[in-house]
Amino acid sequence: MDQPAPVLDPRATDALIASRRTCLRMDADLAVDPTVIGELCRLATHAPNHHRTEPWRFAVFTGDGRRTLGDLLAGELVRVGEAPERVAKTRVKYLRAPAMVLVGSAAGPDEVTTEENRDAVAAAVQNLLLGATSRGLASFWSSVAAPRSPALLELCGFEPGTVVIAAVYLGHPTATCPPPGRSGPRVRWIG
Ligand SMILES: Cc1cc2nc3c(=O)[nH]c(=O)nc-3n(C[C@H](O)[C@H](O)[C@H](O)COP(=O)(O)O)c2cc1C
Repeated sequence: MDQPAPVLDPRATDALIASRRTCLRMDADLAVDPTVIGELCRLATHAPNHHRTEPWRFAVFTGDGRRTLGDLLAGELVRVGEAPERVAKTRVKYLRAPAMVLVGSAAGPDEVTTEENRDAVAAAVQNLLLGATSRGLASFWSSVAAPRSPALLELCGFEPGTVVIAAVYLGHPTATCPPPGRSGPRVRWIG
């Protein structure tokens, strides 16, 4: 069977994908070039997207913005009676990276579209992470405590109904993180 001509050396692509790590070992005080963050958000938008709804939304927090983000989410935790230790941790956790990229998935007109939008945005986040990895940046995909909080959506500039699916820590690495390993794909071939 004829093999298609590769667009890139597949070994390089494979190595990039396999070397991406969820890693917080980054220099909190060394800024990430805003142009690069813009490039990563643009790369994210190349994800597959049913009906081309372009559901991805991005909000970048740097400097004191990270504290504003932490304060808001800590406030949401206080509101639901969370333990003081978790509240205190949330308040400062975003200071561990020089830049936080929050990624939202906009709601669609119906449940299926909303679900497919979220699938597309998850693929977009992976694009962003791979772009960061290829540029030598450390990245870490985390969840947020209150992903549908109206106050959070307002702070991010996301429309009501959006869900924040990722808070990505981005920074220059200070060390590497060991790979957690994979047990291999479960694949059934039906010929
Ligand atoms: C939707 C999603 C949410 C995640 N949220 C968190 C999180 O809140 N905290 C965390 O430590 N890791 C979080 N992770 C990262 C995973 O823990 C990580 O991908 C996993 O440990 C595998 O490590 P690797 O990405 O380096 O291969 C999240 C990953 C995804 C896809």
